[in-house]
Amino acid sequence: NEIKIFSPATVANVSCGFDVLGFCLDTIGDEMIIRKTDKKGIYISKIEGHDLPFEVEKNVAGVSALALYEDAQPNFGFEIEIYKKIKPGSGVGSSSASAAGSVFAINELLGKPYNKTQLTYFAMKGEALASGSEHADNIAPALFGGFTLVKSVTPIEVLQIPTPSNLYVTVIHPQIEIKTSEARAILPKEVELKKAITQWANVGSLVHALHTNDYQLIKRSLEDVIVEPHRSKLIPFFNDVKLAANTYALGTGISGSGPSIFALSEGIENAKKVEQAIRNVYSKTDIAFETYVSKIN
Ligand code: HSE
Repeated sequence: NEIKIFSPATVANVSCGFDVLGFCLDTIGDEMIIRKTDKKGIYISKIEGHDLPFEVEKNVAGVSALALYEDAQPNFGFEIEIYKKIKPGSGVGSSSASAAGSVFAINELLGKPYNKTQLTYFAMKGEALASGSEHADNIAPALFGGFTLVKSVTPIEVLQIPTPSNLYVTVIHPQIEIKTSEARAILPKEVELKKAITQWANVGSLVHALHTNDYQLIKRSLEDVIVEPHRSKLIPFFNDVKLAANTYALGTGISGSGPSIFALSEGIENAKKVEQAIRNVYSKTDIAFETYVSKIN
């Protein structure tokens, strides 16, 4: 009648795949406890870690839980406890972890009536509350694990992409907040054909590289000519971090809508060297930050 879950942080976009590509971290995430209640409805009884609304309709985990609940219509209710470890607005899928976590846990307690694609749909309702648009590039990897590509959102179609076994990510989270809605508002509405060609060539070759364990092709594909040039201006010292990290990394880019920056590496040793290189850059500034290394799972 009760379940405790770990809901992982995720990196969306992965440079070239704006709104479609994402991957899941295996060490950073939120914890949630969900239990059945005799009283019907969805209730949030506890939130620890960060200041978030208890009103179900204003809480990402609540909105997604409610979307599933209204569809399932059980004759009992659910109480949600959220132990928020991922800072909201950090760019590693904080809202998606809440949204995916609550629907995953409730589905388990109901005896798994819904598949992961259907759970993605419900979670997207919560994510839309946070970002102002329905996209699933953080939710899909949180629910499916590993790398995912969201082929379409209406209807939802998620493709699971294999992860090379020696692929690691280093993340730096500068302690500033960038709202996803604002980071989306600054993007151009139209894209030059020449840039679009470069971008879809990169997405295709990155997916191919992940399927064939081709680290050098991953390196050549981690390039974003459409979104990064606009958003990088919002992230202090982005270019310095990228330059320093790329000494050891396969590639470096903005994690989701920022401010976190991610770098992919072959092997944990390189990932740790990247972490040190990034720390050296940010230590010289007066911006507080944290870094971590994770396997992609
Ligand atoms: N694809 C989204 C964006 C991820 O970059 O705006 C953040 O929700």
